[in-house]
Amino acid sequence: MKKVGNHKSFSKIFFSLAFVLVTSLSAFAQDAAKGKELFNTNCAACHKLDAKATGPALRGVAAKYDKEWLYKWIKNSGELIKSGDAQAIKVFEENNKVAMTAFPQLSNEDIDNIIAYTSEPKPEAPAGAAVAGGATADSGVSNNVILGVLSLVMMMLVVMLFLVNNMLTKIADAKGLEVERKDRSIMNLFRAYVKNQFLVLVSVILLLLVSAYFAYGWLMQIGVDQGYEPVQPIHYSHRIHAGDNGIDCKYCHSSARVSKHAGIPSLNVCMNCHKNISEVAETTATEEHSKAFYDEQIAKLYDAVGWDKSLQKYTGKTKPVKWVRIHNLPDHVYFNHSQHVTVAGVECQTCHGPVQEYEFQKQFAPLTMGWCINCHRETNVKVEDNAYYKKVHEELSKKYGVSQLTAAQMGGLECGKCHY
Ligand code: HEC
Ligand code: HEC
Ligand code: HEC
Ligand code: HEC
Ligand code: HEC
Ligand code: HEC
Repeated sequence: MKKVGNHKSFSKIFFSLAFVLVTSLSAFAQDAAKGKELFNTNCAACHKLDAKATGPALRGVAAKYDKEWLYKWIKNSGELIKSGDAQAIKVFEENNKVAMTAFPQLSNEDIDNIIAYTSEPKPEAPAGAAVAGGATADSGVSNNVILGVLSLVMMMLVVMLFLVNNMLTKIADAKGLEVERKDRSIMNLFRAYVKNQFLVLVSVILLLLVSAYFAYGWLMQIGVDQGYEPVQPIHYSHRIHAGDNGIDCKYCHSSARVSKHAGIPSLNVCMNCHKNISEVAETTATEEHSKAFYDEQIAKLYDAVGWDKSLQKYTGKTKPVKWVRIHNLPDHVYFNHSQHVTVAGVECQTCHGPVQEYEFQKQFAPLTMGWCINCHRETNVKVEDNAYYKKVHEELSKKYGVSQLTAAQMGGLECGKCHY
């Protein structure tokens, strides 16, 4: 009779899987001890954890900034400031413009370790007092989530392997193959667990619930970029232009009235004014942005269009400016500005927020289907002075028996109106 060493091969698979999981787990865990060493040799000359020194206190700094930004800052803060990164300039100016040493030799992993060290809670916090701010609490939560998910995956694998193992053993038994069985207490424990169908059922249900929860959260995030506020190649402030200087939105976004797109103005439009405006007034400067900063942005504009300020003429050397696109509906959606701005008379601010107050342009509305539909349900169509709608409106208002019609009643909920 043939012998099948099925336990051996299964434990091999199991242990190699466990190994993969454990190694990937350790990739997640940053090494605070290594971080402390790096901190003491590189950073301690200027930084303390809990008090301001030459530089700011660094405990909990990870919660203040995005990680990618921290990498760039720590590797070379001077370069980041020079690139016009608004946050970097802000930090620099708030700290009396003392330059920080560049650390190009540190890897992202080194920096992760340093961040792990600075994210450790403050030792001996007095009882009852909040521990080291939201920073550590936040990163703790996300680490716990990762650990939780990983251990669940691990558990699932274990259960699956033993189920498969059990089944194969049964098949082997049924076929009359003699299977080499070893009595290991831990194996027995698992076997007992697998035999207990109630326990298995409960774990499977739990697992399904947890994965459904995460899948749902993840799906709801896709494509919703509300609040998206990228750093633009030239810091262009809507507050200064549309707010302080009262420039009409349509001066620059002129096609919003007549076409599908509002459009971003060409740099020639900027030069209508900026041939003469080469710097901002003292009073334009704010706490966050100095006059020098704004003047530098105008210099970038000149550089891009090839304008020589001293000769007052174009040099012919141009560099395209790539504005980062903020609003972006998926390709399967049809949206038309003129329909809303001109026909419906909706204000730009209804959909884009108080743009005239934005120092940085951002996405105000969620741009989800529900957002469009809700407004179509609530907003009455403007029919006065609108010959096109007058006739349709009279017929439809008879049909609905009302004098006011919402965009929805005019057909604004039909899938085909918004979807190609
Ligand atoms: C020569 C002094 C010096 C050294 C060394 C130094 N820093 Fe700095 N750091 C500063 C100063 C000064 C600032 C404030 C910003 C500025 O003026 O550029 C700062 C700011 C920072 C900030 C932003 C903090 C905040 O709250 O906005 C971080 C993060 C930072 N440093 C990390 C580090 C790390 C990590 C190291 C070691 C690898 C390090 N620094 C080494 C002087 C230093
Ligand atoms: C002097 C020209 C100018 C004026 C006036 C102006 N804008 Fe803009 N607008 C721009 C430029 C340049 C950009 C691209 C850079 C950016 O996003 O900051 C832009 C970007 C935008 C965006 C984001 C586009 C995207 O990428 O999704 C919106 C929304 C917007 N403007 C709305 C308005 C509204 C509303 C007003 C009136 C309150 C207005 N703008 C006035 C020049 C102007
Ligand atoms: C209708 C006139 C006008 C147009 C068009 C115009 N600007 Fe300006 N711009 C101004 C005025 C006025 C100021 C502020 C001057 C002050 O505060 O002293 C200014 C300031 C600026 C500044 C410094 C403040 C900031 O926002 O960072 C930049 C940069 C700038 N403009 C870029 C642009 C760009 C890019 C365009 C084209 C998309 C443009 N401007 C179009 C009038 C205009
Ligand atoms: C009914 C809501 C609504 C109104 C009103 C509205 N917008 Fe928009 N806007 C949007 C949506 C949605 C997008 C994204 C369009 C896309 O991705 O195709 C957008 C995109 C933009 C963009 C990015 C470039 C483009 O054309 O896609 C600019 C600039 C802009 N709007 C400016 C304006 C200005 C200026 C006004 C007022 C004259 C205005 N919008 C009125 C909803 C609106
Ligand atoms: C602030 C309110 C508002 C929002 C937000 C809004 N709409 Fe509208 N929409 C209207 C109104 C009002 C009309 C009716 C205009 C008219 O008189 O035809 C309309 C009409 C339309 C029409 C023409 C319908 C028809 O019967 O011909 C389309 C297509 C449309 N909207 C698409 C969208 C899409 C896509 C979005 C979301 C990205 C959106 N709208 C967001 C107010 C809104
Ligand atoms: C008023 C405009 C409007 C109408 C009417 C409309 N949709 Fe949408 N729909 C959208 C927008 C905007 C999105 C993109 C949402 C996003 O990116 O989050 C979308 C996305 C979708 C998606 C992709 C899934 C998603 O959430 O991204 C499907 C499927 C869809 N719509 C089906 C329909 C069907 C079916 C109807 C008719 C019952 C319909 N839509 C009517 C505006 C509309």
